[in-house]
Amino acid sequence: MTARIIDGKAVARKLRAEYGARVEQLASRHGVRPGLAVILVGDNAASRVYVRNKVRACEEIGIRSELIALPADAPEAVLLAEIDRLNADSGTHGILVQLPLPGHIAMRRVLERISVDKDVDGFHLYNVGGLMTGTTVFPPCTPFGVQKLLEHERVEIAGRNVVVVGASNIVGKPTAMMLMQKDATVCICHKLTRDLAQFTLLADILVVAAGVPNLIVPQMVRTGAVVIDVGINRLADGSITGDVDFAGVSRKASLISPVPGGVGPMTVTMLLFNTLRSAERGVGIVDETDGLLAGI
Ligand code: GUN
Repeated sequence: MTARIIDGKAVARKLRAEYGARVEQLASRHGVRPGLAVILVGDNAASRVYVRNKVRACEEIGIRSELIALPADAPEAVLLAEIDRLNADSGTHGILVQLPLPGHIAMRRVLERISVDKDVDGFHLYNVGGLMTGTTVFPPCTPFGVQKLLEHERVEIAGRNVVVVGASNIVGKPTAMMLMQKDATVCICHKLTRDLAQFTLLADILVVAAGVPNLIVPQMVRTGAVVIDVGINRLADGSITGDVDFAGVSRKASLISPVPGGVGPMTVTMLLFNTLRSAERGVGIVDETDGLLAGI
């Protein structure tokens, strides 16, 4: 079997065009332009790149963005005051604090300060808890991107075996909760899982977010499985690779997402979507995705 390769860039491009049209409609019909505030504390090189990509993506589809760069030694109180200001600003529909934060700042106190209705990263405890009950205001962007890719490729989720490798708060755990909400049978594996293959071989849909290059080899994958690689690993030669032996597993899976060009472009796309939805909700526009996670 040779897998069909998911073109995450193309899916992201298509969705961004749709979202851009909705942004312009909101501006022309309601006089509201969605706004995202991105806060960067310090000068972590990777964070700077991520933040630049987010701001640029906003510009591309007409979302107003505000970048707030604070020095690495900024007191926590200054950051909290910025968040308070943005919470109260009606032109700001989404607030994102880029992680990691410098060690002297309490990350949870910062994330919990963001208004739940502007928490477009989905990291506030209310939104994290909402994943358990299907009532989250904003799903976190990477798991939301994985779900959108599966939907776009018309992969059936209900009743399928999903195995998630990696139990992080940002990817593994929320992905598992979201797919369980869609009636999948879900298993979460992590770095202490013994005999990983015993679990991965059960997967109709295998989602890998462990941060270990070549962790998943063909013998660990069921013939015809759908394989979503969320890993981003930088090799010594500077190239980027995922967690899956792409060439080998492509000969066994039915559908596979590459790295780069798979889930990556979807993460920022879902951030744009969450910001757009926040602004649309502000003028009372309801969307079928508001009930996306709600099994109620
Ligand atoms: N750092 C790494 N990934 C993320 C993310 O998705 N959001 C934020 N805010 N920081 C990150």
